Amino acid sequence: MPNLEWSDNLKVNISAIDTQHQKLVELVNKLFDAMKIGKGKSVTGDILKELADYTVYHFETEESLMEKYNYPDSDHHILAHKNLVDQVLAFQRKFAKGEITVTLELFKFLNNWLIDHIVVVDKKFGTFLKTKNVK
Ligand SMILES: [Fe+2]
Repeated sequence: MPNLEWSDNLKVNISAIDTQHQKLVELVNKLFDAMKIGKGKSVTGDILKELADYTVYHFETEESLMEKYNYPDSDHHILAHKNLVDQVLAFQRKFAKGEITVTLELFKFLNNWLIDHIVVVDKKFGTFLKTKNVK
């Protein structure tokens, strides 16, 4: 399975959000690369933590923009964020305990989630922000 590739088609055209999405793509790839070359548990665990922390930080950025501009669909969007954070944190905990390892399934899950979320939910939000003149 190839690494996830950033493309214009993933842009929501809000610069702060696009920059952070690019970083998320990079971190998912970094995790996958570590898995592919069989990096040890501590290296993989560190990347997983970096990914989880950055995901939380990124969602906070989006959610503060939702609040600032009174986004009408924020409930649904925030719930989607919460679901992912819960899953990533549960994964991270199990990984730390040695109950599971990073697998292709996890990579596929993160890939699909990221792409679907960006293309459907975040693009909708991006379109809304454009109407508020956010760049
Ligand atoms: Fe989002």
